[in-house]
Amino acid sequence: ERNRIALELHDEPAQALLVICQRLDALAEREREHRDDELAGELRGVRESVVRTLTGLRRLSQGLRPRILDDHGLVAALEWLGDQIHDECGMKIQVEAEDLLKELPLNTQLLLFRVAQEAMRNVARHAGASRAVVSVRTDGRRLTMTITDDGRGFLVPPTLSDLAGSGRLGLAGMAERVRLLGGVLNIRSVLGKGSMVEVELPCTAVGDASSPASAAQSLAADAPALSAM
Ligand SMILES: Nc1ncnc2c1ncn2[C@@H]1O[C@H](COP(=O)(O)OP(=O)(O)OP(=O)(O)O)[C@@H](O)[C@H]1O
Ligand SMILES: [Mg+2]
Repeated sequence: ERNRIALELHDEPAQALLVICQRLDALAEREREHRDDELAGELRGVRESVVRTLTGLRRLSQGLRPRILDDHGLVAALEWLGDQIHDECGMKIQVEAEDLLKELPLNTQLLLFRVAQEAMRNVARHAGASRAVVSVRTDGRRLTMTITDDGRGFLVPPTLSDLAGSGRLGLAGMAERVRLLGGVLNIRSVLGKGSMVEVELPCTAVGDASSPASAAQSLAADAPALSAM
């Protein structure tokens, strides 16, 4: 039930709000010819509040824990996500994950689930890929999840929050969630070849979420090459 609500909360009203945004943009474009500054300011204000509502809505739906996560754990939940995408668009998603993921704290599982969900949705909507792989592994010091596709790729903007202004909240939201848990998000994409979203969490944050900031610092100092590309 919670999962259905989360999906509906996000998909239907979010879609409606995006359409409102587009209509506001079209209105603003038409009004530009009349040079009515007051009206233009008004339209901008309405548009900003729509984007704010969209952000709040996504935050709300992302905060809900899907039932399958509680009942069957992260690996089953990731496989279920993959099946859903397969049903929707026919693309095959392979899930590679280790068993120890059952022991992850619930907030870490939810983070990984939500990031994978958004990344898979992006692959389905934007990549035109023939396949995608979700992989979760750990070397004892850090936990890494990657979502890789062989699609068309895209130019990754230097600042993800720039996307948010145009109502594209997926990557920016991912970055925010990962940062809150003291992790690092890397997005790499090569035009014509594919894309990869990678989340790295220090195992200190995985076992003990009490000091995310220092965990992030040690991770960042550890892996300078990861933020390149
Ligand atoms: N796997 C991918 N392959 C190709 N392009 C992608 C991929 N992931 C993201 N993109 C590009 O990056 C943009 C930003 O993605 P983001 O998830 O932030 O927003 P969105 O998917 O457009 O909208 P929203 O997630 O808010 O519904 C997308 O519009 C798309 O152009
Ligand atoms: Mg998206």
